[in-house]
Amino acid sequence: MGYNVAIDGPAGAGKSTIAKLVAKEKGYIYVDTGAMYRGLAIHFLDKGIQPQETEKVIEACKDAEVTIAYEDAVQHVYLNGKDISSRLRNEEVGNMASVTSAIPEVRKKLLELQQNLAKTQNVIMDGRDIGTCVLPHADVKVYLTASVETRAKRRYQELQEKGEDCNLEEIAHDIEERDRRDMTREIAPLKQAEDAVLVDSSDMTIAEVVKTIVDLCR
Ligand code: C5P
Repeated sequence: MGYNVAIDGPAGAGKSTIAKLVAKEKGYIYVDTGAMYRGLAIHFLDKGIQPQETEKVIEACKDAEVTIAYEDAVQHVYLNGKDISSRLRNEEVGNMASVTSAIPEVRKKLLELQQNLAKTQNVIMDGRDIGTCVLPHADVKVYLTASVETRAKRRYQELQEKGEDCNLEEIAHDIEERDRRDMTREIAPLKQAEDAVLVDSSDMTIAEVVKTIVDLCR
């Protein structure tokens, strides 16, 4: 049995940044489940499917195989055997993932992959439903959040550093929309597990959040 740490929370709360650092410090494997939903999203986009075309998405699930592998502790996502990791992080893919992750057939495709990864290895897994659905018996559960304002500002800075044109209000609106979708969907909605520790990172440094979580681990 692996030691399992679950980190859930809304978009932009810093889950992946924090989880990677905790993984490094504790020697756990970092599993990014959002990247798996993004991997399937690329499959749908490549087929020319629109986010709202639910029937087509369900049909397209039949010939999609998402797997992951690690290179120098970095997670790579493979779609039908092809490494698509470099395409995961853009708005179109994120939006497609956010909409299609509400479809039961899409979630079912990834559940077993996620559970198998945690079975035999020590993992820190981040997502929306890890503590509530994927790993209900995780050894440590954290619900990591921050105010919409803080999350929007962080995202704004990140984009500015990349030299991309962006607007703070639009980003905040987008974050609220994504939160609403994740929290109100019928299947595996984003919510704090009863036994999860709430960490609000709005006024915390990255190092403080990492220490808080490391201290919760054995
Ligand atoms: O975390 P990230 O932004 O990469 O996730 C992309 C989308 O995948 C999210 O907007 C969310 O709707 C979905 N997701 C999910 N369950 C997870 C991880 C991600 O529904 N465990």
